[in-house]
Amino acid sequence: MTDLSVARTAQQSAFDVDAIRRDFPILSQQVNGKPLVYLDNGASAQKPVAVLNAMDRYYREMHSNVHRGAHTLGDRATAAFEGARETVRDFLNAGSTREIIWTRGTTEAINLVANGLAPRLKAGDEILVSHMEHHANIVPWQMIAERTGAKVVPIQVTPEGELDLDSFNSLLNERTRILAITHVSNVLGTVNPVAPLIEQAKARGVLTLLDGAQAVPHYRPDVQALGCDFYVFSSHKLFGPTGIGVLYGKAQLLEEMPPYQGGGEMIERVSFDRTTWNTLPYKFEAGTPAIAEAVGLGAAIEYLGRLNRPAMEAAEAALLARANELVATVPGMEVIGTAKHKVPVMSFKIAGLHPSDIGTLLDQQGIAIRTGHHCAMPLMDFYGVPGTARASFAFYNTLDEVDQLFTALQKVQRLFA
Ligand code: ALA
Repeated sequence: MTDLSVARTAQQSAFDVDAIRRDFPILSQQVNGKPLVYLDNGASAQKPVAVLNAMDRYYREMHSNVHRGAHTLGDRATAAFEGARETVRDFLNAGSTREIIWTRGTTEAINLVANGLAPRLKAGDEILVSHMEHHANIVPWQMIAERTGAKVVPIQVTPEGELDLDSFNSLLNERTRILAITHVSNVLGTVNPVAPLIEQAKARGVLTLLDGAQAVPHYRPDVQALGCDFYVFSSHKLFGPTGIGVLYGKAQLLEEMPPYQGGGEMIERVSFDRTTWNTLPYKFEAGTPAIAEAVGLGAAIEYLGRLNRPAMEAAEAALLARANELVATVPGMEVIGTAKHKVPVMSFKIAGLHPSDIGTLLDQQGIAIRTGHHCAMPLMDFYGVPGTARASFAFYNTLDEVDQLFTALQKVQRLFA
């Protein structure tokens, strides 16, 4: 058997991708007269029927506001909402649901932490990020740095797209207060060796945040094993609904941090003389939360829990291996990000072609990818490109779809050659 047929057989036997695709109704449509090939999962992933049904059922049978305790529907809604929090706790292996805060997404979660840690910062302190961060893990720190006089310092990246560990070792010093890095790069697909970096940071009393937005669609993180102080992710990249995300934080730190937003729910008692805060996690959840979205995220995690995870990871690795194998079939194609340990994300350029033209021409063939700077302008500057084309795969993608992408790229390249 060829490598490809071995990979195909492995994908089919351990992981019935055709059956899985039937769980995602959006995938079976035509776009521009062609079967949809959805390879923009890094921007937002599609939702299984289990998520759609859970949200539908929630609205049909149990919607009301939560934590009011006034009537049966309210109790049902509260049970579903808090049940989803427990599902997230279990997914991350956090010690307690007190450590699971609902946010609007990764971006809001990082803003919350940055604001919460601001009182600990003073002029001259350093916040260590990396050159491969998404803007969401740069700009909130820059805003806090401006307020406090602290400085945001980027760890360098190697040309292959790995974190430069010498740069990390030389930058981690007595001024470092916070290490905030991505678990997996949205542009490069690099899986960073976060555990030893966290260990080194902790040994110096540095607080650590991991941006897990691009990691959780591929791996199940264990926050206790990782030892990070904060871990953040968005639901919509994890096959759940938009509009909700998660901040995991160690309870003691969350207790010490001031609230992020004021309003209902986050208080214990309000008077014009003195207002006191609610207990965790509610202290950080002002206003009516995204209840149906929490239920949907819980359903997404439960759906993932029913899949054969080792087989899913093997199937994803086969997709990336096949894509890597086919790069040589497109003249002038260059992959940006060739780290040894990667999730199935492939950023690339093709000599003489603008990334947005590649995206438009692929779309005409029913293939959805993302093009542009991917909200990571410093990384684009590092590679000296205005943007890249990026194909980001999920477990529901097939080897045939990888082949279709490359056949389409060959066509695009020929058109412009
Ligand atoms: N951060 C998302 C992406 O990489 C939006 O596409």
